[in-house]
Amino acid sequence: MLQEGKLYIGTSRKPDDSINKGEYLDLKFGNRHGLITGATGTGKTVTLQILAEGFSNAGVPVFCADVKGDLSGIGAIGEPKDFLLKRAEQIGLSPYDFQEFPVIFWDLYGEKGHRVRTTMSEMGPLLLSRLMNATDAQEGVLNIAFKIADEGGLPLLDLKDLQALLKYMGENASELSNQFGFISKSSLGSIQRELLILEQQGADHFFGEPALRITDIMRTTNDGRGAISVLAADKLMMNPRLYATFLLWLLSELFEELPEIGDPEKPRLVFFFDEAHLLFNDAPKVLVERVEQVVRLIRSKGVGVYFVTQNPLDVPETVLAQLGNRVQHALRAYTPREQKAVKTAADTFRPNPDFDCATVITTLGTGEALVSTLEGKGSPSVVERTLIRPPSSRLGPLTEAERQNTLNVSPVRGLYDEDFDRESAYEILAERTAKAAEAARQAEEQAAEAPSGRSRWTLPGFGDDTDEASSGRRARPRSSGYQRETIVEAALKSVARTVATQVGRAIVRGILGSLKR
Ligand SMILES: Nc1ncnc2c1ncn2[C@@H]1O[C@H](COP(=O)(O)OP(=O)(O)OP(=O)(O)O)[C@@H](O)[C@H]1O
Ligand SMILES: [Mg+2]
Repeated sequence: MLQEGKLYIGTSRKPDDSINKGEYLDLKFGNRHGLITGATGTGKTVTLQILAEGFSNAGVPVFCADVKGDLSGIGAIGEPKDFLLKRAEQIGLSPYDFQEFPVIFWDLYGEKGHRVRTTMSEMGPLLLSRLMNATDAQEGVLNIAFKIADEGGLPLLDLKDLQALLKYMGENASELSNQFGFISKSSLGSIQRELLILEQQGADHFFGEPALRITDIMRTTNDGRGAISVLAADKLMMNPRLYATFLLWLLSELFEELPEIGDPEKPRLVFFFDEAHLLFNDAPKVLVERVEQVVRLIRSKGVGVYFVTQNPLDVPETVLAQLGNRVQHALRAYTPREQKAVKTAADTFRPNPDFDCATVITTLGTGEALVSTLEGKGSPSVVERTLIRPPSSRLGPLTEAERQNTLNVSPVRGLYDEDFDRESAYEILAERTAKAAEAARQAEEQAAEAPSGRSRWTLPGFGDDTDEASSGRRARPRSSGYQRETIVEAALKSVARTVATQVGRAIVRGILGSLKR
């Protein structure tokens, strides 16, 4: 069954149910993306599992989310259960080997896997707006916040950094509005409330450092197998927007960080986007366009994206058109919408004269699917009615003890476990506010002491005044040539200096608004 450079998916059947031929995914088209669809319980997760196994064995690292907790078993050796052996026999899979796979567990909450974090700065305003379901006005304010932070090199690491910046923007709204565009106080207020909600939902776990390095999801083992990163997503699914935004952020990171490699022998990474409808549900048009763009362009970076969802109508047509490798499990066709989905699914396949796709889709058994993959020069194969192979790893979850064992020997053990809170916007702004208050107090004192020509003040913490300010001595107005600075101007200047010394260049954002390297 094994063929060089190909991943065995299952065996197709002729109209009389006899064996037709093996169905494969050609690894050199693995970066041409894919789609796994089907109603509940029809076999999508198992299909994802056998594809992940196949990619891993071919040395391709995999990232997937474990939405229901039933995918973790991929890290344990399979058991020869009767129904699995029966399937293996039915499709002529011989030998049917059992195998455990190298998994790395991840968890935004750090409970079932290594912590995954990113920083606010890295996520950027577009995805953050999506995460908050922001209105246009709120998005405008967020854009300004990021502009202030980006231009000023003010690190926005965690939720409290953004909160501090928003507070600062509220206090200086009129000055900042002149410089950056209108800052509506009510939008500011809404964003601040939304941040509180996010915090209550546990999103603060996700924002901070150390941020995930994508090289850690692109590992291979010494024996040349690709690591399978499994994101625990059962708890995460209770906050579907966080789930979708997180995966989108990861995709955008991969896109921004990986170099162009054209069309490789096999993908560098395969990314499964389960419950993909959450990505597109009520997503603003501009976001869908950007996703479409990223999916189109990420191919030449060697990344294959596989969407998993119940209904092919969940995926916008522009994205659908780019998904070359397709596994369509059974769909129901009771309601008009369901019938439309069946028709859409059927119409996207290269027809097989032996059967009518639309009819077959509604009659497929569990673990059976219509399969079409790219072949030859990259054209879709004739669709075949296919029995999907049984997995080599365990079907069903790991026990807690098994998961713990896996975590204990994980190659990224210890790298992400502790929070790291370096100086960022929150601390900088807090310090600045304290200094400003101190300066104002001193200015008042000075004005009282020496009213003539001394009513202007500057912020300590700049230039020559730094030492005096930090040593607690009174800031004196310089004898001549100093300019009046508002707190805001001063703060922004300081921020600009931070950029010059720490970052060294302005921040540039990519298609989905995350940082460009
Ligand atoms: N290729 C297969 N070989 C053997 N059994 C299979 C196969 N695919 C599915 N099954 C059986 O069908 C069950 C349901 O499959 P699966 O969990 O993949 O469905 P699903 O489409 O992911 O469902 P849901 O939408 O609820 O997540 C499996 O637990 C397994 O018993
Ligand atoms: Mg499933």
